Amino acid sequence: MDFLSDRARSLDPFPHYRRMRETSPVFHDEQSGSWHVFRYDDVQRVLSEHATFSSRMGGDDPSETGQLFAASLITADPPRHRQLRSLVNQAFTPKAVDALAPRISQLTDELLDGIASTGTADLIAGLAYPLPVIVIAELMGIPPADRDRFKQWSDVIVSQTRTGAENADHHATNVEMTGYFLDLIEQRRSRPGNDLISSLLSAEIDGQKLSVAELLGFCSLLLVAGNETTTNLIGNAVLCFAEVPGTIERLRAEQSLLPQAIEEVLRYRSPVQSMYRVTAADTTLGGVQVPAGVPLVAWIGSANRDERHFPRPDQFDIDRGPSRHLAFGQGIHFCLGAPLARLEAVIALQAVLSRLPGLTLTAGSQLERMDSTIVYGLTELPVSWQAG
Ligand code: HEM
Repeated sequence: MDFLSDRARSLDPFPHYRRMRETSPVFHDEQSGSWHVFRYDDVQRVLSEHATFSSRMGGDDPSETGQLFAASLITADPPRHRQLRSLVNQAFTPKAVDALAPRISQLTDELLDGIASTGTADLIAGLAYPLPVIVIAELMGIPPADRDRFKQWSDVIVSQTRTGAENADHHATNVEMTGYFLDLIEQRRSRPGNDLISSLLSAEIDGQKLSVAELLGFCSLLLVAGNETTTNLIGNAVLCFAEVPGTIERLRAEQSLLPQAIEEVLRYRSPVQSMYRVTAADTTLGGVQVPAGVPLVAWIGSANRDERHFPRPDQFDIDRGPSRHLAFGQGIHFCLGAPLARLEAVIALQAVLSRLPGLTLTAGSQLERMDSTIVYGLTELPVSWQAG
């Protein structure tokens, strides 16, 4: 999908999406063989109709395919998907996640303590990046000393599209990370703790334990899904709030508006812009015949700007009300971490609003998007405020 890539990777891919919704809403890229879907109704169908649009990518053995997620629930279809999901559901229910709020607040405060008096900082490096990494690492029982290696691995992995070829960097990262998790799994097997990996090790489906490939799939999926996406939700939120005059002041005065403002960020600058499927049968999509067995990209970032569903789609409007955006997907694969991501975002942004008064984007700084067509977020977010 080379000809799409440059526009799809830019900080403003939205005019490109709009053109595609108008002219080629279901587009066959003959060069790569992939199909691309841009309108809300079609994206919704692709994400949720799992019998026609399968999530299975590659084989079952990660060492064979080089795909870390090959054996994880995000790439499983029913009935395996339901079984795998039931193992981790408990850890991510809104109730279980709410119990993490005090710890998330404490971590946020510690991170902001490090920058609040300076008056200027990169908010990605200072808060949005470390917070989700530490939260997910603690849930998984990963030692604090290994956190930085974690972030590096997840950065490399998100830049690799699931259908694209692996380069040497990706391969080295996959090998290193797989080795790390294999060691950690063995440690937990002999000395279980009160963490997610230990509980996955003891879990059984119909009397059968998870395979090592499945355990690895879970570890790498949670690591990547739990980090970069939430980092970008927090970063994209600050960008959206700072861009629209009056928004920061209003949210500071009325913090109860924050959850709905975060939903609008999820719609307007969706941290996950695209998801993959493979057609399991011949089908008709948006009036176009799509054959079985072809890869398909559902453009969530475009669906969330579809004028057929959202009036004034290119306006960031925190008063929009419930909008049924697709930022967390839809159907059986609906994001497992949505309650956690929303909670982390509320806590982090509340703290930013109250502890960094007069927050603005630092004048003259050049904003750049991370190198990915899947994930949408900034490499750096330079901001300034009135340090007390
Ligand atoms: C703003 C932050 C996040 C966004 C935008 C996001 C987005 C998504 C999307 C679009 C999907 C659907 C994938 C598909 O249909 O194929 C998904 C699935 C998933 N997400 Fe998230 N995610 C976020 C945060 C998290 C967090 C914090 C975690 C875990 C700690 C997480 C774990 C997962 C998992 C495990 C799945 C697969 C669920 C399944 O296949 O049943 N996500 N996410």
